[in-house]
Amino acid sequence: MRKIDVFDTTLRDGEQSAGVNLNTVEKLEIAKQLERLGVDIMEAGFPAASKGDLEAVKLIAQTVKNSSVTGLARSNKKDIDAAWEALKYSAEPRLHIFLATSPIHMTYKLKMTPDEVIDAAVSSVKYARQYFPQVQWSAEDACRSDLNFLVKIVSEVIDAGATVINLPDTVGYRSPQEYGKLFKYLRSYVKNIDKVKLSAHCHDDLGMATANTLAAIENGATQVEGTINGIGERAGNASLEEVAVALHIRKDYYEAETHLKLDEIKRTSNLVSKLSGMIVPANKAVVGANAFAHESGIHQDGVLKEKSTYEIITPELIGVKSNSLVLGKHSGRHAFKNKALELGFQLADEELNEVFKLFKDLSDKKKEITEEDLLELLTDKQTEK
Ligand code: KIV
Ligand code: ZN
Repeated sequence: MRKIDVFDTTLRDGEQSAGVNLNTVEKLEIAKQLERLGVDIMEAGFPAASKGDLEAVKLIAQTVKNSSVTGLARSNKKDIDAAWEALKYSAEPRLHIFLATSPIHMTYKLKMTPDEVIDAAVSSVKYARQYFPQVQWSAEDACRSDLNFLVKIVSEVIDAGATVINLPDTVGYRSPQEYGKLFKYLRSYVKNIDKVKLSAHCHDDLGMATANTLAAIENGATQVEGTINGIGERAGNASLEEVAVALHIRKDYYEAETHLKLDEIKRTSNLVSKLSGMIVPANKAVVGANAFAHESGIHQDGVLKEKSTYEIITPELIGVKSNSLVLGKHSGRHAFKNKALELGFQLADEELNEVFKLFKDLSDKKKEITEEDLLELLTDKQTEK
C-alpha cells in the first residue's frame, strides 16, 4: 500500500474563507487536534501576513511535535525571513514558497516575464534552503500554465533545492482526467522529478476538488493538500476527510492510504466548524449530520437487516457512535416497530397497525417526527387499554 502524506492547510488556506478569523488560542486548539488526527504536515499560517499570524505559527511550531509544521511565503526575502522567525524552533523546519506560473497571473498580477518568474523562483528556493531543510515550492495556478514552461520552472527549482513540488488547481478549473494528466506529464518530462515529493492542491469551484485529488494520486502524487470540512477560499479546498476515507474505503482500487487516525475525523470536523463558525451542511459527505441517517422505509428495512446494504462507511470508522433511523413520511413499519421498542413500547400486531397509521397521518403534516411526537402517540395508545 503506497503511503500518501497529508498536508493540512485548514489554518492557512482554510482561514482564507470569507468571514473566518481565528485567534492564536483557537489556532493552537485546532493544531493540537490536527496532530491527534495524525496529519503529516500542517500549514499553520502565513507569517509575513501579520504579526498575529507570525506569533500563532511560532507557538504552533514550538508546541506540535508529531506533525511537521510549515508556513507560507511569497518569493521574497522578507517573507522567507518572517517564516524562519516563526518556524526555526519546530522539530523539522519546513517552508512553503509559491509563485504564479500562468500567463494570466504573470501578466496581470505579477507583471513579470516568464524568465523573471523563473529567476525569482530559483533565487527564493536557494535563499530558503540556507535555513530550511525542507522547502516546498508551489506553481500557483499550475492548471492554467503552459506545460513546457511548467516543466522548465519545476526542473530549475528542483535543481535549486526544492524538496516538494506542488501543482495547485488554484481556481478549481480542471476535470479529474486533465488534472491526472498534468501529474503524468510532469513525471514524464521533468528529469529529476523522482528526487522530490509531488503534491496535489485542489479547490472546489466546480465541485471536483476531491475527485481531482484522487486523480492526482492515481497519477503519482505522493502528498495531498486540503482542509477539514473543505473550508477555504471561495468554494473551498479539497476536504481531507473525504480524500482519506475514499482511499480507505476503496483501497482495493487506489492501493494507497493515508496514516490519518480516521476515528478522530468527526471530532476534528466538529472543532473546526465550531471555531471557524462555518456550519457543515447536513448532506456533506463523511461528516454531515445526515451522512449516516436513513429515512426511507426501504433503506431502513435494509440497514436493520444488514447495514452494508446502504452504508459503505461505518459511522464508527470516523468516530461517530452509530447510524440513525430518522422517522418521516417515507419510513416503514419495521423501523417504526424498532423505534417503539427502543422507547420501551412492546405492541401487539393490531396495536402496532393502529398507531403506525396515526404516525403516517402525522408525518404527512410534519416534516420530521420527533421522539416527543412518538412518545405522545405511543403513550396515548397505551392509556387507551
Ligand atoms: O491555491 C493555491 O494556489 C494556493 C497556493 C498558495 C499554494 O493556496
Ligand atoms: Zn489554495
